[in-house]
Amino acid sequence: MNSQLKDSLAGTIFTKIICRGEVGSTNDLALSMLDGGEDGAIAVSADSQSSGRGRLGRSWYSPPSGNIYLSIMMRLDIPLRDASLFTLISGVAACTGIRKSTRCDVHIKWPNDIVFNEKKLGGILTETRVEGDLVTGIVTGIGINVNMLKAEFPEELQGIATSLLAETGESYDRREAAVAILKQFDVLFRDVFPQYRNNKIREIDLSGKEKLVYLWKSLDITLGKRISVKTPNETVNGMAVDIGPAGQLLVMSDSGEKISIHAGDVTVLNGYSA
Ligand code: BTN
Repeated sequence: MNSQLKDSLAGTIFTKIICRGEVGSTNDLALSMLDGGEDGAIAVSADSQSSGRGRLGRSWYSPPSGNIYLSIMMRLDIPLRDASLFTLISGVAACTGIRKSTRCDVHIKWPNDIVFNEKKLGGILTETRVEGDLVTGIVTGIGINVNMLKAEFPEELQGIATSLLAETGESYDRREAAVAILKQFDVLFRDVFPQYRNNKIREIDLSGKEKLVYLWKSLDITLGKRISVKTPNETVNGMAVDIGPAGQLLVMSDSGEKISIHAGDVTVLNGYSA
């Protein structure tokens, strides 16, 4: 898998592609590479994870069933306020990469979920290393359930989580899907940060950033829905109306206030709660 992946990704921002059998967590492996001084952009993929991690301290069920467990490590220097651009880039890359390689009509659910037929297909976990108000390294982990059988999901995930195989009855080439995600990441990253050289980002390209937000909006199924968002400080009920320029969710609350939310867990009301 390693050399095939390497060939498919020649000419992209990725300087190393690491493929493993079972690991603890690809994010942990990528973070240890970052902390160990690795430079540039590195993709780490594994067949299974014994301690896969999700957002908010949850675990990520990661059996060896032909799923995607992928992390992208990047050493860079960017202001903390721009780190949310990576959530946007990873979400759009994961969603469009899956669409292009499998033709499955998957969507994004703000801020970090990939959904298919109203169930959770995958998720994204972005972790940063920060010095003062500068991000010096970023690891974006992407987990997508590709070829897992419906019966393989633990009971607590039945009805909430799904895989491409469980929804369509077809199995897919996990390698091809992972390559498609990484290629999309490369294109979107270079659109937004065209001057990325030697780990330094000099300027953000505003039209690249606008295009990214536009793409996100076209893929996000939260917009136009009644939602409940649990933020670190409060729970807001209302209508999801827009995505702001920094990737924040704009909600018209039931009390008539327009609220800008940067982090939280969304439940689509009268719908589903993937
Ligand atoms: C979530 O929806 O809670 C995020 C899930 C992220 C899972 C991926 S799998 C690859 C990478 N390694 C991990 O331990 N987690 C992420």
